[in-house]
Amino acid sequence: MATSDVTYIDHPLIQHKLTIMRDIHTPSATFRQLLREISHLMAYEVCRDLDTEMISIQTPLESMDSPKLKGKKLCLVSILRAGNGLLEGMLELVPSARVGHIGLYRDPATLNPVQYYLKLPDQIDMRLTIVVDPMLATGHSAIAAVERLKEAGAKQIKFVCLLAAPEGIDAFTSAHPDVPIFTAAIDRELNDHGYIMPGLGDAGDRIYGTK
Ligand code: URA
Repeated sequence: MATSDVTYIDHPLIQHKLTIMRDIHTPSATFRQLLREISHLMAYEVCRDLDTEMISIQTPLESMDSPKLKGKKLCLVSILRAGNGLLEGMLELVPSARVGHIGLYRDPATLNPVQYYLKLPDQIDMRLTIVVDPMLATGHSAIAAVERLKEAGAKQIKFVCLLAAPEGIDAFTSAHPDVPIFTAAIDRELNDHGYIMPGLGDAGDRIYGTK
């Protein structure tokens, strides 16, 4: 069994916002706004180890050497559609990132992911690739998404979610032991329909006000 590389981001601001998001009475507009705010805070942590290099600049007073992000612009990949809720906030923090989208839906009978869309930026092999999806439930979609990214050449990948189920962490780590997981919570379990318990319901529905 692979050892899991899971970073649980337990910042009080994230935990407070997440509690409001979980509440059934929280409307979609508030849910979306909180997800955006949490994604800023998570992006800060996920990007903590980005490489920098010194460049020479001129301030209004004198010249100096100062750090700047090194290498190719990073790539954010949203697993549609709920991933877009995390993507938007992360893009605000890293506006120059390139963006990919993977469309996967869960077959309700098997819970297996079926791909219906894939669009990725070029030179993905040279970019840190951060995959975002609020819910790591069975792990099937995340596993399939990372498989597609590896097939496309991605070498350095991180996975970011809001909530993870222990079952999802185990499945994902077995499939992709080289991909670290960042999450704001690890919940109790999955129910028979593949929902995270206690969870927050269907993330896509809560973001977009659908049923
Ligand atoms: N996807 C969701 O949106 N919610 C869950 O609890 C599990 C998967």
